Amino acid sequence: LKPRGVHVTAVIGSPPEHRDWQHGDQVHTPDIHHSARVNAFVTVDGGLKSRTRVGALTFVMAHCHIGHDAQIGDGCELAPGTVIGGHAVLEDGVRCGIGVLVRPFVRVGAGARLGAGAVVVKDVPAGEVWVGNPARKLAADDWAGRERERDGWDEWYAASRAEVAA
Ligand SMILES: CC(C)(COP(=O)(O)OP(=O)(O)OC[C@H]1O[C@@H](n2cnc3c(N)ncnc32)[C@H](O)[C@@H]1OP(=O)(O)O)[C@@H](O)C(=O)NCCC(=O)NCCS
Repeated sequence: LKPRGVHVTAVIGSPPEHRDWQHGDQVHTPDIHHSARVNAFVTVDGGLKSRTRVGALTFVMAHCHIGHDAQIGDGCELAPGTVIGGHAVLEDGVRCGIGVLVRPFVRVGAGARLGAGAVVVKDVPAGEVWVGNPARKLAADDWAGRERERDGWDEWYAASRAEVAA
């Protein structure tokens, strides 16, 4: 299992930058799974309507920001500098390359891969690879049949999941 826990410099549960006048001053504490890893200088805003969530075995690298009410599933990877807008949803196993930006309220389907620097403004179907600004499906995308990046993420996730469940 990779190291887990929340780095001492991460700021968890601050009120969002814009407070929603409809919800007053109530801010829900983020729900960060104990097996998640949250690295240095990450910010996870408190939720206005519900708890901002970071799922099991999700790895949030340095300088990421997760907006209020966002739902990050299990086994996701957010590379450095990724910014997730408020209320956005990343289903399980989504992997964001360096510097990805996901617009508020957008949903990214399970197992999707967002290329480095992608600016995601529309919902992404499960399992697809999207790149660019505005992000679009990679023209040459045959991700299922393609050789995945050889970094062992899938194997690590499968093994770790079994360990956390045990
Ligand atoms: C999107 C990604 C997964 C695609 O990987 P791949 O399938 O091996 O891609 P290729 O290098 O074969 O490139 C395929 C095409 O997509 C383009 N492309 C690749 N990555 C891109 C990106 N991030 N943004 C825009 N275009 C990109 C390439 O220029 C190429 O275009 P072409 O066919 O017109 O020449 C990968 O490039 C990527 O961005 N990975 C994120 C890596 C990262 O940030 N890791 C974090 C480590 S902490």
